Amino acid sequence: MINIPKGTKDMLPNDSYKWQKVREVVQSLARKYNLHEISTPVFESTELFVRSDGESSDIVNKEMYTFNDKGGRSLTLKPEGTAGVVRSFIENGLGELLPAKLFYISPCYRYEKPQAGRLREHHQFGCEIFGANSLASDVEAVLIAYDFYKAFGINPVIHVNFLGCPECKSNFKDTLKNFVSPKLDDMCPDCHKRYETNPLRILDCKSPVCKEILTSSPKITDNLCPKCQDKFNEFKKMLNSFGINYVVDPKLVRGLDYYTDLAFEFVDEDKTLGQNALGGGGRYDNLVAELGGKSTPVVGFGIGIERILLYLESKGIEIENPRKLDVYVASNTEDENYVIKFVKSLRDKGFAVESDLMARSLKSQFKYADKIGAKFVITIGDDEINENKVSIKNMETGEQIKVWSNDADDYLREYVK
Ligand code: HAM
Repeated sequence: MINIPKGTKDMLPNDSYKWQKVREVVQSLARKYNLHEISTPVFESTELFVRSDGESSDIVNKEMYTFNDKGGRSLTLKPEGTAGVVRSFIENGLGELLPAKLFYISPCYRYEKPQAGRLREHHQFGCEIFGANSLASDVEAVLIAYDFYKAFGINPVIHVNFLGCPECKSNFKDTLKNFVSPKLDDMCPDCHKRYETNPLRILDCKSPVCKEILTSSPKITDNLCPKCQDKFNEFKKMLNSFGINYVVDPKLVRGLDYYTDLAFEFVDEDKTLGQNALGGGGRYDNLVAELGGKSTPVVGFGIGIERILLYLESKGIEIENPRKLDVYVASNTEDENYVIKFVKSLRDKGFAVESDLMARSLKSQFKYADKIGAKFVITIGDDEINENKVSIKNMETGEQIKVWSNDADDYLREYVK
């Protein structure tokens, strides 16, 4: 017996309607917000992620699935969706008509310690809006994500931070280093490295000792230049005007290095899953140029689908299963041909129909139809064939009626919506 790899999950037939619902919601948002789907390969050159997500990020350092192919190229299973989309944006000249508003549903791979809501293979609904550096595009990104959550009855709190323009960011790095420097000896080895390579990441440290030291650290939001301060204030005002529940979190630096000014996370404050980030994103205005494209500002987000489904389950929020079988055709006749043709004629008229494929007794067929939740059972025996009629049983009301076989669809149509 070979088991599923650690940290991965099968999507089982009984749960497929939940994923279909996710896709439906995404398609409906795509239509309303005029987003266009993009799909990039599951693997890319390792260098793409190293350069995009950051050499000092945990994702690149610890979590990538990297391998050499038979031609000796170093490839990596995508740990997140953004880098591949940016690569494709540049390579395919998608910047010709801006803004380019793109979305994807993509698997992502991270070698993390699996736990509830944290998988080694997960899927993200992601959205990237290329070309606009405006309050309107920041707000639009947040509203798309918010509408997604709303469609599932989720009302997360949005944690927001503003990392500032390159100057603000660079000044704040120095401020933070000055604060940390006398305390560095007490801090974890990772923070020693971060101090040298990427001091902002110190704010994200999970070690309790470092966290304690950082409680009194300077706040990036207190150290913004007037222009950045204005931008952030406008953004917050806009969230207020939409009644969006937000918290300013000056330690939110996110696990990826490409973010430039706005950073946000959609948070389950109850920590139902232990993991509290139901999604996250922000602005990354330098990445396109850093990867060799023409400088293009971008704002985007990613939402973990498994995490959303697990969250709904743990909160007892049900996704309605719309897939009910309209009709089960039960038969006890040798004339299989007649039954197959009748079943096909109903399917051609748009009904969802199943019939016996296992030569079961009539009683077992009824039992099965009941188990799978068929709305109607139509019975065809030799008598019915001779009379050119079928028996229809409404499984909800128990009501039974015989109708001309040609009229069965009209009868069903009255009930089957
Ligand atoms: P991220 O915050 O690393 O951002 O991931 C986005 C979301 O994916 C998380 O909030 C979480 O819901 C889900 N997620 C991440 N890792 C796992 C995991 N191991 N198991 C289950 N779910 C997970 C990004 O990936 C960015 N590319 C988002 C973005 C797009 N920023 C701008 N554009």
